[in-house]
Order: sequence, then structure tokens, then C-alpha cells
Amino acid sequence: MDENNSIPNKLIETMRCGKEEEISTLRPQALNDFIGQSGLKDKLTIFMTASIQRGEPLDHTLFYGPPGLGKTTLAGIIAKEMKGTLRVTTGPALERAGDLAAILSNIQPNDVLFIDEIHRMSANIEEILYPAMEDFSLSIVVGKGPLARSIRLALPKFTLIGATTRLGLLTSPLRARFGIVEQLHLYSPEELTAIVKRGSGVLGVSIADEAAEEIGLRSRGTPRVALRLLRRVRDVAEVKKVTLIERDLSRYALDMLGVDPEGLDEGDRKFLRALIELFDGGPVGLSTLAAALNEDAQTIEDIYEPYLIQKGLLERTPRGRRATRNTWDYLGIPVSPHFIQIQQSQLSLFTTEDELP
Ligand SMILES: Nc1ncnc2c1ncn2[C@@H]1O[C@H](COP(=O)(O)OP(=O)(O)OP(=O)(O)O)[C@@H](O)[C@H]1O
Ligand SMILES: [Mg+2]
Repeated sequence: MDENNSIPNKLIETMRCGKEEEISTLRPQALNDFIGQSGLKDKLTIFMTASIQRGEPLDHTLFYGPPGLGKTTLAGIIAKEMKGTLRVTTGPALERAGDLAAILSNIQPNDVLFIDEIHRMSANIEEILYPAMEDFSLSIVVGKGPLARSIRLALPKFTLIGATTRLGLLTSPLRARFGIVEQLHLYSPEELTAIVKRGSGVLGVSIADEAAEEIGLRSRGTPRVALRLLRRVRDVAEVKKVTLIERDLSRYALDMLGVDPEGLDEGDRKFLRALIELFDGGPVGLSTLAAALNEDAQTIEDIYEPYLIQKGLLERTPRGRRATRNTWDYLGIPVSPHFIQIQQSQLSLFTTEDELP
């Protein structure tokens, strides 16, 4: 952080991309080590190769998707592949115009400026970012009152990578300034199994294939969860003085953590039970559900819902959140007559006689 002494620590973290940093960590350091998201990886490979051939930095990139899917990791990989330094900050940390100006005026050619939670950046900061993104220039106001004047500084060409869990909260002028906008999807159990195996190699843990599969299956589509579960299973193995983690041990540890074979934890079960027991399966508005669960609406949208929807245990409808037949089955509760009635009335609305079998 040599050249950044003037920037408060909370604002920026830099990661040198030199050889000395090539220690193996849980975070993949190259696109080849990054498991899954194959469509996205293919596109990034093409875009990066083309940029390198033109001698230009990669176009500004926006990643969106639920937490823990690898947005920060990808930003690090891009910085490395583009031979730049990764500078990390977050939308809420950029409070004053001077905060961003300090970061931008320190930027070097090919650097990657990564702004996490970019949807939480304030409007005055966005205004400074626009010319920096479009023309690589920074306008600073010097002095006060009638003596104030604006100075324009030319910036080196850099790549801005924004990450957000809430694409819809980004203003359209900001979104329009990203040349690459890509969604990260939940991972398949096979991909998560591969991530667990890679992680166990890094952690120096011996794990049987079936045990890695068991963890992969219960990781709710999210690498961060997979690696967290792996570390907890390792704790159990260490205490039990087991050198090779086998399926039974991983099952035992995962059950103990309250993660069931579907990958749902206590929080998910509480959510589904509230939906069914308090609201008869819905539809119920997000804010009502959040109040009933004493949770924040954003946590529900970002953490609980993507996986429950993927599992077919929840539906988002224009009238609110709704249980599905699977939800009742999953909880082992008989489907409520009210729910069946709603389903039948909807079916008769959408089905004409011709379409009936
Ligand atoms: N494809 C992948 N292969 C292997 N490990 C991965 C992969 N994606 C993510 N990880 C691991 O999962 C963890 C979470 O990833 P990361 O921090 O990049 O997620 P994120 O999308 O930035 O999350 P957030 O939205 O919470 O900031 C990291 O430890 C990373 O090493
Ligand atoms: Mg992140």
C-alpha cells in the first residue's frame, strides 16, 4: 500500500499481482482454477484476449448475483490476467467526493478498481465516476466561494469492476456506462463438489469423493457456503482425530450444523414454516414476511430466496411470495384446502377447454 498512504484504510485495499503473492489460497487466482460459470468464463476470456491484443484495459464490467458466488474473486482474477493491481473499495465506504478522487488520482494504467455493493454508492460520488469511466478524466474543485475553480485531471486507462447483489437498484446512467454486464448463477452440486475438493487440497484436508459430494449437495448453490461447511466438517474431523473425511463423518457434521440433505438450514425452514403456518402459503408481501421473521427484507431477497426458488420451494408472484406444493411436502404438512382452492381457481383462469386433456 506504498503509494496509498494518503487514502484511509477503510476505503481501499490493494492486492499486488506479482509472483510473491502467488501463495495458494482458497480464492482461485486464475480463470482456469475458477470452477463453474463456464459461459461467463468463455466470454471473459474472449474480451480479455481482445483487450490485451489491442493493448487496452478491459472494458468496465458489472457483475451481479447473490452473495458468495465469486464476484470479488473474478475481479481479482481479471486484475491478475490484465497485469494490473486490484484496488478494492465499496459503495458505502465512499462517503465524500474526495474519497473517490483520492483513489482515482492514485490509479495506474491497467489497474482494476473494484467497487463492491456499487448500488449503495451516493449520487454525488456517481457524478464523479461518470467522466472517469467514460473519458478517463477527473474534475476536482479547488478553493471555495468565488475563487473556486474546477481542474480537470487526465487519468490512466483503467477498468472499473462493479459488483452488486441488486442490479435493479443501480441508476440507469451508471448501468449504461458498463460495457460488460454479467450475471453470476447459483452453482450445480457437481461444481460445488469440485470446489470442495479444490478447497480441501488448499486446506490440506483428505476427503473422500462421496464426502465432498455430500457437502456440495448441501451448499445451497454457493461456493462460500461450500467452503464454510468444509471448514466446519474439518473441525469435527480434527476433534474426532479422523484423518480421512468420509461420507458418514460429513453427514454427521452437516446434520449437527442443521443443514439438511436439501441444503436448507434452520433459517430457511423458519422462513418456509412462517409462509405456511402464518400466511397459509401466501401470497404475502415481502415486507410483511420480513416483519414476521424479524429479518431485513434485503437479507430475505439476497440470502434465502434465490436458493428456495431454485429448489422449487418458493414462488415470487406479482401479488407476493407464495409456497408451492413442494413446500408443504418438504415440511411434511398436508396441503391446506385454501391453497388448493387458489391453485384451482388460477388453473381455470388460464386453461381453456381446448387445452384440457
Ligand atoms: N468458482 C469458484 N471456484 C472456487 N472457489 C470459489 C469460486 N467462486 C467463489 N469461490 C470462493 O467462494 C468465496 C466467496 O467468493 P467471493 O468473495 O468472490 O464472492 P462474492 O460474489 O464477491 O460475494 P459477496 O457478494 O458477498 O461479496 C471465496 O472464498 C472464493 O474463494
Ligand atoms: Mg465480494
